Amino acid sequence: MRGRLVVGNWKMNGDTASNARLLDAIARGWQAAADRGLAVCVPFPYLAQARERLAGSAVAWGAQDVSEHPSGAHTGEVSAAMVAEFGSRYAIVGHSERRQAHGESDALVAAKAAAALAADLVPVVCVGETLAEREAGATSAVVTRQIDAVIAALGPALARCVVAYEPVWAIGTGRTATPEQAQEVHALLRRRLAAAGAGSIALLYGGSVKAANAASLFGMPDVDGGLVGGASLDADEFLAIGAA
Ligand code: PGA
Repeated sequence: MRGRLVVGNWKMNGDTASNARLLDAIARGWQAAADRGLAVCVPFPYLAQARERLAGSAVAWGAQDVSEHPSGAHTGEVSAAMVAEFGSRYAIVGHSERRQAHGESDALVAAKAAAALAADLVPVVCVGETLAEREAGATSAVVTRQIDAVIAALGPALARCVVAYEPVWAIGTGRTATPEQAQEVHALLRRRLAAAGAGSIALLYGGSVKAANAASLFGMPDVDGGLVGGASLDADEFLAIGAA
């Protein structure tokens, strides 16, 4: 359902000592609110620590990926049920770093979203175009192809997802999409999702979101919040984005 949601994506950062400081500061600084959610997606080994430090707070937690398989001979993989067992609410799937560096296809991302849903996790499904695709005028075609794969695979369960639009050229570059650029793609995604009966899911923007630009991005009609990488590693900055 729509409502402000800000999800931190720690990526491959942290250690037990620094996580404890960050998690405690976020838990302390965040007040429960019916129309605002805050969550952190941590590396797998720290799910137990996230549960320990965030339990009883209004901050949710989750993972950054799940296997498309439920169990079995998949060395190195982590199932959605394992992630759920640690009290997780969310699992990011289809992040561009996985699509690009691990060759994840649209079909695989859709299968991972389905696996997350089957374990009662909320998949945060990432879509977004590269700089070359944007410059070639292919942004709409790329995000449509990416979201349509998920729509086709999930059916009515689509309504239990969160979708994040993350233009690849804006991730970790300090080059944020303008609010208008974000809104244009979010409106397209919203139309596509609405046609599939899921027009009211949360649509997050990701790519160099900071406290200084969050309010203008989140103020756009179809932007419901953010998926935040670098800025989620600083408690004050992350809390300010959550409150934007
Ligand atoms: P960034 O990363 O906020 O550091 O640009 C966002 C993401 O990759 O989810």
